[in-house]
Amino acid sequence: MTLVTSGISGLDALLGGGFPSGRAYLIKGTPGTGKTIFGVQFLYNGVIHHNENGLLVSLEYDPLDLKEDMLKFGWDLTNLEKEGRLHILGTAEPLEFGTLTTTSTTVDDLANQLQKAAQAINAKRIVIDSLSGVELGFTDMFESRKKLLRFCTLLKKLGCTIVFISEYSEPSNKFKPYEIDEFIANGVILVYYERIGSERFRGIEILKMRGMKHSTRIHAMEINNNGITVFPDEYLFSTET
Ligand SMILES: Nc1ncnc2c1ncn2[C@@H]1O[C@H](COP(=O)(O)OP(=O)(O)OP(=O)(O)O)[C@@H](O)[C@H]1O
Ligand SMILES: [Mg+2]
Repeated sequence: MTLVTSGISGLDALLGGGFPSGRAYLIKGTPGTGKTIFGVQFLYNGVIHHNENGLLVSLEYDPLDLKEDMLKFGWDLTNLEKEGRLHILGTAEPLEFGTLTTTSTTVDDLANQLQKAAQAINAKRIVIDSLSGVELGFTDMFESRKKLLRFCTLLKKLGCTIVFISEYSEPSNKFKPYEIDEFIANGVILVYYERIGSERFRGIEILKMRGMKHSTRIHAMEINNNGITVFPDEYLFSTET
């Protein structure tokens, strides 16, 4: 098993060394928990430090706004795109989500488009932001799940290390039974932004990581000028935070 670094400061130690490469992971959290930043940081550092090109599918965050916002962390995505080391697919591009309601071939088409985009730049890392965006195209719940499973399975065949981003619709939902996307993924990471008294604190937890001895605690996390930093020795819901 080859491990790739997550690119998130402090996280690799909690993962047991990094992400097993070529597998699919799920980042879940409520709005504003840092999921998109996590995804971009994973891609950016993959390109810069490991020469692993990246594909970002950004379905909710306008790519232009995203690029502008990520510059604040010093991540020049436009430049990486020019160099052919990163490609961002936004909803403006013909991803045809509106047609994803009926046949499974449309799911195959979508996976096919992503495959072509990934191969065009020899991508080793892919981020889908978010799976919820893909699901919007589906009407029936059961069909939606089946197609999502097929979509993820097709993508996993590309051999890239994939980060799927997924949202909880409301905070209490994180206690509901595990969803199918959590079973599809080789690993699940939860991000938190919890209120304690009159303040909110960020946290991160590795819910599962197949094949790895990982941390079982909810660690403190911060978003600052450098992006996300995880604190291996500090915990959410403890007085030390
Ligand atoms: N430059 C910055 N410095 C510090 N914190 C920042 C900065 N930029 C963004 N943030 C924090 O990150 C949050 C947004 O992070 P991000 O977009 O990754 O969240 P998300 O989980 O993807 O949210 P969404 O549900 O909207 O997709 C902001 O609400 C803000 O709290
Ligand atoms: Mg987001």
